[in-house]
Amino acid sequence: MKKVFALFSAALVSALCLASCGGTDSTSSSSESSAQESSASTSSAESSATESSSEEASEGSTDAAAEFTTVTEGVLTMATNAEFPPYEYYEGDTIVGIDAEVAQLIADELGLTLEITDVAFDSIVPGVQSGKYDMGMAGMTIDEDRLKSVNFSTPYATGIQAVIVTEDSDIASIDDLTGKKIGVQTSTTGDIYASEDYGMENVVQYDNGALAVEGLKSGKVDCVIIDNEPAKAYVAANEGLKLLETEYAVEDYAICFSKENAALQEAVNSVLEDLIADGSVQEIVDKYITAE
Ligand code: ARG
Repeated sequence: MKKVFALFSAALVSALCLASCGGTDSTSSSSESSAQESSASTSSAESSATESSSEEASEGSTDAAAEFTTVTEGVLTMATNAEFPPYEYYEGDTIVGIDAEVAQLIADELGLTLEITDVAFDSIVPGVQSGKYDMGMAGMTIDEDRLKSVNFSTPYATGIQAVIVTEDSDIASIDDLTGKKIGVQTSTTGDIYASEDYGMENVVQYDNGALAVEGLKSGKVDCVIIDNEPAKAYVAANEGLKLLETEYAVEDYAICFSKENAALQEAVNSVLEDLIADGSVQEIVDKYITAE
C-alpha cells in the first residue's frame, strides 16, 4: 500500500512536470519513459495511477500510439515460423510473405524497426507469453487454449483447414479419414483438431508442413491437414498431390501478444484496423494469393 502510494506520488509529480514542461515524445517507448507517459495520461478522466505504478510496462491507453513498451526500444520483435507460404517463407535469406509485409506496415506506422525471428511454431506462444518477443504472427489461428496464455489482435485473415491427399488416394472426403494416418505440423490447429477427431494414435506430427508433405509423398501418412493457402502452395510445388474439396475447419488469423502488454496490443490493433479499412492488407493478400 505504502509502495503504491509512493509510486503514485512520483507518477503524479512526473505527470505534473510533463503537463507543464511541455509533453513528451511518445511513439515508441522504453519501460522507463512509459512510466512517465502513462502517468501523463492519468490527468485525464480515467485514472490508472494505481495500475501504472504497480505494473509500469503493461499500462494501457486509448491513445493507441501513445504508450507501449517493446522488448528492445525502437524495435518490434515478431516471432514467426517461416515454413508457411504465402504467409511467411524464405526468399533467399529473407523472410517474406503476407505476415511479413503486414507486420512491416504496422512497424512503419508505429515508428519501429521490424525484426522477424524464425522459431518453431510451438515456441511462438510461450515466447510471446514470457515477453521474449513482442508479438507472434504466423498465420496463427485464434484458439481457446492459446487465449489462456496470450491475447490476440483483431483478425486480419481467414484460414481454412484443408486436406491434401495423393492423386490416387482412396480418400474422397473428410468422411473417409477415420483410421487413416494424418500428417500435421506440431501444435497447429490441424494437429489439435485431428487428434481430437481421429485420435492421437492416427496423427503424425512434423516440424513443418513441408516435412508433412514429404511424409505423404513417401507413404508414411495418408493425408496432410494444414491451412489451405500453404496447402495450395505445396500441391502446386509437388507432383501427384491434390486437395480435397471439403474444408475441414474455418478459422480467423490474428497476431498474439503478451497479456502483460495490452498497450502494445492496442497500438497494433489501431494501426491494423486502419490498414484493413483502407485496403492495404487486402492489397498485400492479393499480391500473394490470386483469386481462383
Ligand atoms: N493456422 C494454424 C494454427 O494457428 C497453423 C499456423 C502455422 N503457421 C506457421 N507459420 N507455421 O495453428
